[in-house]
Amino acid sequence: MAGNNSFQVLITDSVHPVCRRLLEEAGFMPVIATGRTDEELKPLVAEADGWIIRSGTKITPELIDVADRLTVIGRAGVGVDNVNVEAATRKGILVLNAPAGNTISTAEHTIAMMLALSRNISAANASIRGGAWDRKSFMGSELYGKTLGILGAGKVGRAVAERMRGFGVTILGYDPIIPAELAEGSGIKLVQLEELISESDIITIHSPLNETTRGILNDETLANCRSGVVIVNCARGGIVDEAALLRALDAGIVGGAALDVFSSEPPTPELAALIGHPRVVATPHIAASTHEAQEKVARQVTEQVIHALRNEPVETAINEMAIRTASRQDA
Ligand code: MLT
Repeated sequence: MAGNNSFQVLITDSVHPVCRRLLEEAGFMPVIATGRTDEELKPLVAEADGWIIRSGTKITPELIDVADRLTVIGRAGVGVDNVNVEAATRKGILVLNAPAGNTISTAEHTIAMMLALSRNISAANASIRGGAWDRKSFMGSELYGKTLGILGAGKVGRAVAERMRGFGVTILGYDPIIPAELAEGSGIKLVQLEELISESDIITIHSPLNETTRGILNDETLANCRSGVVIVNCARGGIVDEAALLRALDAGIVGGAALDVFSSEPPTPELAALIGHPRVVATPHIAASTHEAQEKVARQVTEQVIHALRNEPVETAINEMAIRTASRQDA
């Protein structure tokens, strides 16, 4: 590893400028390389001691393979599904994230999406901008009195619940990990998945994408939903089976969907019918795109990367235990 002053930290997504500033103040060398192909990245990865990303960069085993000096990968955000954590762990590379900085922004965007859908905001906006004065086509529905099902009662799920209490909704939640008392503190009554599916008027997803959650809303679960249910996904594409969602929208089982995330980003042409559906509101993965959230996650992840490179304790490592276990087994 290079001496402290020559640590190179590669930044391959558009991370808030505070990241660069903190690295420079620490005496490290930020190397900004956005919009590169994997082949273009390889020589930079080979020279990097640290690597900071958002969700755009996909860190594959092939890139990890050339990362001979890399000690730490920092994700300015929550989800590390764009990092092959297994390959990083095998090579002893610490993967860490910034789990709290974008909670409020994501919760606020989720609620904005619910309101946009229930009041036809985007279609009415397009209509008036097109010169029409149409007060008949955009009959909406109130959120008041509805049952909101929160799939995943982690930080964002609870932040949504806390804000939605003011709308006079009943809030159910499903989360196999979070203790009931913690959920209740945010106004969420934890129930079994089947009950949440069958009792909710609106289902909003706030889980990570993993093998348990992938496709959790599919043909079968959507068929058990209340007729006209609204689906909101500001978590990760792939948690909702998009083909099944389109079928359920066409069949009228699902009354509307608000989607910020997609199974492939940018979306492949096969997703055009879903995104263009008249009862879908879609945004390009911007739930965490606020000045406040981006500054917070960039600051948190950069501070953690600096600690890791200085061999100081870090707070938000994903695979620290796994690396320790692997190195004990090798010894
Ligand atoms: C996250 O995982 O933090 C969010 O999806 C926001 C992002 O794209 O970074």
